[in-house]
Amino acid sequence: MKETGKRIVNSWNEWDPLKHIIIGVADGCMIPPSEPAMECKIPADSDMKGVWGPRTQDTVDKANAQLDNYAEILRKRGIKVDRPTPIDFSQQVSTPDWENGSMFGCMPPRDVILTVGNEMLEATMSYRCRWFEYLCYRPLLGRYFKEDPGMVWGAAPKPRLTDRTYKAGYLSRIITIEDRLKLTADKDFVTTEVEPLFDAAEVCRCGKDLFVQHGFTANLSGIEWLSRHFPDHRVHAVNFPGDPYPIHIDATFVPLRPGLAINNPGRALPEEQRQIFYDNDWEIIDAAQPAHKEPPPLCYSSVWLSMNCLILDPKTVVVEASEVYQMEQMNKLGLEVIPVPFRDAYAFGGGLHCATTDVYREGSREDYFPNQTHAIPLEDGWKA
Ligand code: NVA
Repeated sequence: MKETGKRIVNSWNEWDPLKHIIIGVADGCMIPPSEPAMECKIPADSDMKGVWGPRTQDTVDKANAQLDNYAEILRKRGIKVDRPTPIDFSQQVSTPDWENGSMFGCMPPRDVILTVGNEMLEATMSYRCRWFEYLCYRPLLGRYFKEDPGMVWGAAPKPRLTDRTYKAGYLSRIITIEDRLKLTADKDFVTTEVEPLFDAAEVCRCGKDLFVQHGFTANLSGIEWLSRHFPDHRVHAVNFPGDPYPIHIDATFVPLRPGLAINNPGRALPEEQRQIFYDNDWEIIDAAQPAHKEPPPLCYSSVWLSMNCLILDPKTVVVEASEVYQMEQMNKLGLEVIPVPFRDAYAFGGGLHCATTDVYREGSREDYFPNQTHAIPLEDGWKA
């Protein structure tokens, strides 16, 4: 890495002191039309089933008010906040392989941009409606690239997302929730292995170790690609039986500081995958119950956005303001909690962690898992 000039991009984990972040915006956000992978994400009884088109201006305004307030709270704490540039998400998009009736939005940067050290990597993404979302971040990434001579601007190979990328008839195998749970526990997900796929929000960064959820939006080829792209890291594929919609790791498994992680109690990390944590004196505890029984209307996510927190430093965490049990648990764990109201933004793509992506945290790449006796092996099922 070139050492001269200003350093803008640096973030190795989820907890080091935060100095610079991107927070998404809700402008123009769409409920995208049905497409192969999207269908699997929406529960049969969801209010989103069969609905598509622009979200109402009233809901966009409310979401933006909470996003702006969140940005202001972080700025007041001395954290620099940048915002993406929305494009017209309502337009029909196409590649030589497919057409889609609209795009999605740019509220959750965590899904799209993965920061690892001095690199900001544009993820492949796994839905057609999100294929072009990286464009919203190009003005920022282009600026960081110009101003920081050490910044590495990465882009994973754009997937073709033809019908071969998705398992034909996957949905027809699901009648009951038990069918779903059996499929996901067997690691039988909607995507095939014809090309690497990953959403950035499947990656949990713990210094030298990256834990990546194998699920609906990251396949084994994508995880293999990440392990070759980051040769100085150890990449581990993890999965969470019990989750009927395994999408994005950050409402399932969240490290709070070195040695401590919270895990969604309904989606426990399997015993053999926990061993690497125990071998390195990490504690994994059940996350507190959510305060709500239902997500807000027209929301893709579960009530477990309660644990989708943003850590400002190992002693300070931002939690959604109505999540009283999660706040209480954080307090008991010795963390100062900053409550931020955010439920009006949930439907636009997730919680407080989803709505951000790191640009700069203090610190460097540390080894929090020196004992690799029970390293989780990468599977090679993707080669077939
Ligand atoms: N699939 C996750 C979303 C994580 C941000 C959930 O709704 O629990």
